[in-house]
Amino acid sequence: LAVIAVILLVVILAIVLGVTLSKRRDDFNTKFMERCQKFKGYNCQKIWDAFQQAYVNRDRCDVPTEAYDPLIATVPFESLCNRMMFWSKTKNVVHDFTGGKDCFKTVEDTLLGSVLNGLEWCGKNGSSETFTTDCPKWEECEKSAVRSFWNRVSAAFGDFACGNVTVMLNGSIDTPFSPTSIFASIEVKKFKSPKVKNLNVVLVIQKNSVTNCTNESLKNLTMGLDKGIGYRCVEVPDSHLKECGSDPEKPCGACW
Ligand code: APR
Repeated sequence: LAVIAVILLVVILAIVLGVTLSKRRDDFNTKFMERCQKFKGYNCQKIWDAFQQAYVNRDRCDVPTEAYDPLIATVPFESLCNRMMFWSKTKNVVHDFTGGKDCFKTVEDTLLGSVLNGLEWCGKNGSSETFTTDCPKWEECEKSAVRSFWNRVSAAFGDFACGNVTVMLNGSIDTPFSPTSIFASIEVKKFKSPKVKNLNVVLVIQKNSVTNCTNESLKNLTMGLDKGIGYRCVEVPDSHLKECGSDPEKPCGACW
């Protein structure tokens, strides 16, 4: 009887585990579709298929950025000249700002960026499934499904940059333009004159900020810019950004 009870218990546990795992996968797909459908006029099933082919049946640390090329080609950005917002180490402040007004757009405000923002996913060699637990952390491997996606979509966003481009950098750290950041290592390198006319740095400062526009790392930024691209830097208190960003009366770009 004890043996039967143990077998029964194991079977029940396996079923519960199986149901939980498949529910997690369904949750991921459901979230993807719901977020995608907020953008009108796109074929979200086609986008899902292009997304999945990038990482399914691949080792969890061996997803090259190019694997996302078909996905990127499936979802072109809408025209965003003069309204593109880049950022580094300012995740919360920048999204509070762009979310409050319909002016500037970060990559996380575009279809692919907003659909995948905050999600975790990966594949497995020999499996056609999407996993959402036990996926490699950001630092664990350079070519994880998640990291390669953000690198690829950021490269595309940088390529797409045109007109006056803005970046929000963090004035509370020593190196607001960090060479290993996506902004420095991928996006800036894609800015090309004359398509991109100016780069405006909004250096977000707090009371105890250690940095200003004369920061050494910003010199590296200007030196690395494609010849012909203009450069401007303004120091803006975060309290001012909060206030100004939520004021519907203030026109776009009037916060600095
Ligand atoms: N560990 C975990 N997550 C990380 C790490 C890390 N070491 N590095 C980067 N990330 C992920 C996180 O999701 C983090 O919030 O990338 C995000 C941005 O990292 P930052 O270092 O703050 O900035 P940066 O690397 O410059 O990336 C932001 O890339 O997404 C594009 O267009 C966007 O301009 C923006 C830039």
